[in-house]
Amino acid sequence: MNHEKTSFVIIGGTSGIGEAIAQLLTNERNSIHVASRSTGLDISNEKCVQHYFESIGPVDHLIITAGSFAPSGKVVDVSIEEAKAAFDTKFWGSIYAAKHVARYLKPNGSITLTTGMLSRKVVANTYTKSAINAALEAVTKVLAKELAPIRVNAVSPGLTATTAYKNMDPASRESMYDNAKQNLPVGHIGQASDIAMAYVMAITNPYMTGSIIDIDGGALIN
Ligand SMILES: NC(=O)c1ccc[n+]([C@@H]2O[C@H](COP(=O)([O-])OP(=O)(O)OC[C@H]3O[C@@H](n4cnc5c(N)ncnc54)[C@H](OP(=O)(O)O)[C@@H]3O)[C@@H](O)[C@H]2O)c1
Repeated sequence: MNHEKTSFVIIGGTSGIGEAIAQLLTNERNSIHVASRSTGLDISNEKCVQHYFESIGPVDHLIITAGSFAPSGKVVDVSIEEAKAAFDTKFWGSIYAAKHVARYLKPNGSITLTTGMLSRKVVANTYTKSAINAALEAVTKVLAKELAPIRVNAVSPGLTATTAYKNMDPASRESMYDNAKQNLPVGHIGQASDIAMAYVMAITNPYMTGSIIDIDGGALIN
């Protein structure tokens, strides 16, 4: 009997959506590697990413949720340095990870990236997030062709209550959540565990590749 465990790497798995995915996948059949800056992996550093995958060896499934910060504001106000740094983490970090994990992934393995509803919902003052997420959605489909039979998908969350908003002042955060609750078709905001379920589908469904899964409480149909 084969007792080999299924191995998962979750970059960004130390908090928020990534942590919820790790919780959902934890059982005796799986071996889960959670990584982020707090465990010594900075996804925006290509050498660091390369060494990380060399040290792990064969992997069944890679999930990337790293990098929730991007500056918001009008194009005339946003610091280009901050916008580029956000690209370095979420966009280029995802590319580094896909590039360096590819040779270690098993043929029935998968990569699941994370985008966000701003890729396709037009909201003023969000150009950095819109651009990063739209770029990653385009890349998801190209990688699904290039890396086949490895499957490549992306999950696109809407507003989700996570540590991503820990630095907002509490009153503005509550007002953002209340506003979303009143406007979203589902009448409440997302929890990390709601979004995590979509990753499990992307990882386990053998017929799914090149897909972008929207889990946004109906934000895109508003
Ligand atoms: N929450 C939302 O409303 C929402 C909406 C749309 C899309 N998303 C997307 O969903 C993903 C996860 O967001 P979240 O809400 O779960 O955010 P979160 O709670 O802030 O978690 C982000 C994770 O990324 C890690 N990380 C940040 N910079 C990193 C780096 N340079 N290298 C490696 N790891 C890094 C963090 O750990 P360390 O600090 O230890 O590095 C943390 O584990 C992001 O791509 C975000 O853009 C979120």
